[in-house]
Amino acid sequence: MNILGISGSVRSGSYNLALLKSMKALCPDDVFLTIYDQIKLIPIFDPELDDDEIPESVCSLISMMRKSDGLIVSTPEYAHGVPGALKNTLDWLVSSDALILKPVVVTSVSTSGLGGIRSHSPLILILSAMNTNVIVEGSMNVPYAQSKFNDDLKLTDELTRRSIGISFMAIKQAVEK
Ligand SMILES: Cc1cc2nc3c(=O)[nH]c(=O)nc-3n(C[C@H](O)[C@H](O)[C@H](O)COP(=O)(O)O)c2cc1C
Repeated sequence: MNILGISGSVRSGSYNLALLKSMKALCPDDVFLTIYDQIKLIPIFDPELDDDEIPESVCSLISMMRKSDGLIVSTPEYAHGVPGALKNTLDWLVSSDALILKPVVVTSVSTSGLGGIRSHSPLILILSAMNTNVIVEGSMNVPYAQSKFNDDLKLTDELTRRSIGISFMAIKQAVEK
């Protein structure tokens, strides 16, 4: 089973990217997680472009999505919402059929105590507009990131590890259905 993980952060020291890397390390044997951390390369969405003018970076992401059975989006919360770079990336994908009905799990990591949970509802609305199958039972949020990851951005928190297992169980069940 191929799952694509998209980080909604452009930071090199991103905790959301660190979560996806931890998920990759903890993947069940029959799951292969590919991480996409290049949303900073995606140009501003332009609805006036013709199909043959779609930027290469977008085509490459769409192709990765086509090859995946499901998606994990791990995002920071910015100003109680979805980071602009992530929203911009998803805008390019709205008219693509690469994700239609595919299971999607939303995760967030924040240095604050709410773990980025306020980004979930707006993100789920966007993913629903894209006709994806959002698996709410698989969602997770990681508060106080600085106490869950060490200086090398390795996950040190056992409860978060367990939550990752639950997320994979939910997305696997949805894909297998
Ligand atoms: C401009 C800006 C706005 C932010 N707004 C929020 C917010 O509304 N809620 C929150 O929990 N954290 C907020 N944060 C903190 C980020 O969630 C935190 O820095 C997180 O670690 C970023 O994710 P990353 O490590 O994957 O880049 C904000 C950070 C920035 C830079």
